[in-house]
Amino acid sequence: MTKGKLSTKHLLGIKYITAQDIQLIFETAEKFKDVINRPIKKVPSLRDVTIANLFFENSTRTKLSFELAEKRLSADVINFSSSNSSVKKGETLLDTVNNILSMKVDMIVMRHPAPGAHFFLSKHIDAQIVNAGDGTHEHPTQALLDAFSMREKIGPLKGKKICIFGDILHSRVALSNIFCLQKLGAKVRVCGPPTLIPKHIEALGVEYSYDLKDSLNWCDVANVLRIQLERQDIKYIPSLREYSMYYGINKSVLDDLNKEITILHPGPMNRGVEISSDVADSDHSIILQQVENGVAVRMAVLFLLANQRGLEAN
Ligand code: CP
Repeated sequence: MTKGKLSTKHLLGIKYITAQDIQLIFETAEKFKDVINRPIKKVPSLRDVTIANLFFENSTRTKLSFELAEKRLSADVINFSSSNSSVKKGETLLDTVNNILSMKVDMIVMRHPAPGAHFFLSKHIDAQIVNAGDGTHEHPTQALLDAFSMREKIGPLKGKKICIFGDILHSRVALSNIFCLQKLGAKVRVCGPPTLIPKHIEALGVEYSYDLKDSLNWCDVANVLRIQLERQDIKYIPSLREYSMYYGINKSVLDDLNKEITILHPGPMNRGVEISSDVADSDHSIILQQVENGVAVRMAVLFLLANQRGLEAN
């Protein structure tokens, strides 16, 4: 397997890893992608490593993808979901995690609604932590699998123009994508209605635009995000119907461009709102490749973190 170590003990966010870490994750993920396309999809690399998946928020893709990645690496896996746990009885996050760790768990994969929950835990526990999404802050493995999938489709991302469309204000995927794509040398723009673009976004070194067609003409790749109604306590847009009229990406909008662009969506999609079915299911879309690559990328992250700690079997 790949030589080299990550510069970090945890994966708390893309902000805290280097461009070299990202390249190492990609090289390792390419090898694991070969593994999961073989008839025997399993390797013994994390035999004797125990991983707890702690999900304090809903998830389909990330939870299943991590669990599959762990099983493909032969790790022992336990799953926790806050909805049917003693969190409901008032137990704190730290007490919950310390109780789980006392069962000899080596690594925590956690999704939590509070931005910074992982950073807080990293100051109080010894086990390694992988951020599977913390509120509106970061979703590092999503950004890694997005960039890995873009690179697979269009080659090295240095100098490529990537635009992230939609609800940038509430999106952890947007922030992690911005950090990841910039570290890989891409030019990044965000596009959406003024109310869903954070104030001072230029401070992150990205362009912004409120104009869908101009941004589609500008970019090589469009990463399309959904409107996160569950994180909006006030109305940021008049209605989903209007959002779809002005910011929905459909076949007619793409047909008007003088070029072909690659379309990504991290899921879950709201078909007919930010993306139409004829785009989501078209040859331009690599949405299901993103999900496939997610398993290999997460195998790489878990393997390299275990390797960094000297936990892996071989
Ligand atoms: N992309 C993503 O995080 O999807 P889930 O919420 O289903 O995990």
